[in-house]
Amino acid sequence: MTIIVFSRRLGMSRLFLIIVTVGVVVTLDFRYHGNKEMEHYLLRVNASNPDIAHLYSIGRSVAGQELWVLALGQSSRRHTVGIPEFKYVANMHGNEVVGRELLLHLTDDLVRGYRGNKTWSVRILNSTRVHFLPTMNPDGFDQADTSCYLGQGRFNRNGVDLNRNFPDAFAERRNSEEAGREAEVRAVMGWLRTETFVLSANLHGGALVASYAYDNSDGGGELVGGASLTPDDDVFVHLAKVYSHNHANMRQGEPCGDQPPFRDGITNGYRWYPLAGGMQDYNYVWAQCLEVTLEVSCCKFPPADRLPVLWTDNRKSLLAFMRQIHLGVKGRVLDGSGAAAPNAAVEVTGRHNIRPFKTDKRGEYYRLLLPGNYTFTVTFPGHEILTESFWVPYGPDGYSALTHDFLLRRIEPSSARPSSPGWALGLTLALLGTVG
Ligand SMILES: *[C@@H]1O[C@H](CO)[C@@H](O)[C@H](O)[C@H]1NC(C)=O
Ligand SMILES: *[C@@H]1O[C@H](CO)[C@@H](O)[C@H](O)[C@H]1NC(C)=O
Ligand SMILES: *[C@@H]1O[C@H](CO)[C@@H](O)[C@H](O)[C@H]1NC(C)=O
Ligand SMILES: *[C@@H]1O[C@H](CO)[C@@H](O)[C@H](O)[C@H]1NC(C)=O
Ligand SMILES: [Zn+2]
Repeated sequence: MTIIVFSRRLGMSRLFLIIVTVGVVVTLDFRYHGNKEMEHYLLRVNASNPDIAHLYSIGRSVAGQELWVLALGQSSRRHTVGIPEFKYVANMHGNEVVGRELLLHLTDDLVRGYRGNKTWSVRILNSTRVHFLPTMNPDGFDQADTSCYLGQGRFNRNGVDLNRNFPDAFAERRNSEEAGREAEVRAVMGWLRTETFVLSANLHGGALVASYAYDNSDGGGELVGGASLTPDDDVFVHLAKVYSHNHANMRQGEPCGDQPPFRDGITNGYRWYPLAGGMQDYNYVWAQCLEVTLEVSCCKFPPADRLPVLWTDNRKSLLAFMRQIHLGVKGRVLDGSGAAAPNAAVEVTGRHNIRPFKTDKRGEYYRLLLPGNYTFTVTFPGHEILTESFWVPYGPDGYSALTHDFLLRRIEPSSARPSSPGWALGLTLALLGTVG
């Protein structure tokens, strides 16, 4: 809707023309949008949909371009307890460009659907807060040539492959420091600290496959038959299949050029080819966010007239994958006085994560699990270790994981061991007093 307002200011003869746009569905065409055009589009979506859209920047690229993220949801500005945080990231390799257009069309589709009161859009945005980073490497995009296979524009402005620049749990340098990392990687690391993201995908090009963690291994117990398996392998395989099975042809696993075929259109990352410093391992190990790498077209930079069919091929899978954020169980951990317990470990028997999943500052946890019986162990200082077992149903159909709060019991003072430094200091002072 466009309202044109004419106003005549008293004492002035000039006529002011103000164009106010409210709740407008901004049109988006099928072509490649440059970084400035993309920014304009995102600003317009943000300005026209203040009820569901929130545009923010997570930092700047090496050349100083904003890394824009559009959040959509009924509470797009801030987290709501019980509403999980989802993200899609695209164009990390600057010459793999289909993903950025897919995320713009997904934005257009969700906003249009919401404005039209379409159930499939309203239900997603009612139950989930979604974040889209359409380009993680705008500088690389500016350098990209339109080749299907060549790598011009893959790296950032400093010539670094951003998907090799994250801290790696298996590489020698096992730290999670930001020092010495690229601006775009630091921006994403900082972003992951602002919210507890639950599910994510990273859109690439040059193959047609959904690839899941781990991408790396140090030859430990995770290495099984040539694959590097996470403790949540069943969930990762399911997530990857949701994408490939809802895609027009990914599940057929047909090879691109001389690449190997992929059974069901999915692969363990390490089995395909090992890599250190990747973003999906970082998300999973350090940010407890399950991330899948989606290779959405054999050609990295296809002609623009291929975009409508690429969008149609991927639309259903992009939507279905988002809904999988409602797998498993979610809730809060409450301490002995009923207050939120931040940083409490919530562990699932049989799933030994490299770093245990912890509650956030609001005492919230999310755990993606396939339907089944599970035993949970909750550990929090000063409280008894809590163990509970229960059945976890399939959540995506109803747009909600099972909600389950864990109520902890404080360790009674009488049963606490008298070994605190305060006690020892008190005794020492008392003894000194006696001597003196
Ligand atoms: C997004 O829109 C809101 C509401 O109109 C506005 O306050 C905010 O500044 C906009 N964000 C950006 C990045 O322009
Ligand atoms: C939106 O759709 C729902 C169900 O499809 C319907 O119950 C509701 O009245 C609609 N709201 C508006 C404002 O049209
Ligand atoms: C979405 O949430 C709003 C308010 O929170 C509610 O009025 C509406 O019925 C919900 N719609 C759907 C489809 O769940
Ligand atoms: C899950 O546990 C319940 C209760 O102990 C039991 O009745 C049920 O058979 C179990 N289901 C499976 C699939 O193991
Ligand atoms: Zn790539």
